[in-house]
Amino acid sequence: IKMQKKRIEFSYEEYSSIAELNLTDRELVEQALVATTQASAQFSKFHVGAAARLSDGQIYLGSNYENTSITSCAEQELLSYLHALYRNFTIASLAVTFNNANLGSRSDFPITPCGKCRQLLLEAEITSGKPIRVIMAGQSGKVLIATGVASMLPLAYSAEYINTQA
Ligand code: THU
Repeated sequence: IKMQKKRIEFSYEEYSSIAELNLTDRELVEQALVATTQASAQFSKFHVGAAARLSDGQIYLGSNYENTSITSCAEQELLSYLHALYRNFTIASLAVTFNNANLGSRSDFPITPCGKCRQLLLEAEITSGKPIRVIMAGQSGKVLIATGVASMLPLAYSAEYINTQA
């Protein structure tokens, strides 16, 4: 059998601004903007905020947390908090945004989660059994929405590998 070229397609929504979003999405981005003001980003000066809307409608916030020895992304902080509170939870949608406080920098384009956070979010999505709507924004400018984390991490590592039987 010869080598085969494979292709994975990724669809997402693009909006020209936060104003173009529906009310629930816009509310979540606004909460994520609030979360950026609670970031501890003394090293990078890159203030990231995340807001999760759970299946029961409750909204929780997280922001990045930088220490001399550790750095934790806003998404990771939020997931750890939800895990500590509930152990099991279902995120309907998650908004991420940022404010870059470095001189001369811009914050008018959407932030996209790092690889580790994609894996963490994917595992939360798989555990809950419901796709997470991921809303990626800046202080202003375009907004991107992915309708599930699985699409954002093709060929993802799976915990199922561990228990795969011969
Ligand atoms: N960061 C996040 O909090 N979320 C992301 O999606 C990307 C990066 C944080 C980590 C670090 O504190 C700062 O942004 C600079 O990379």
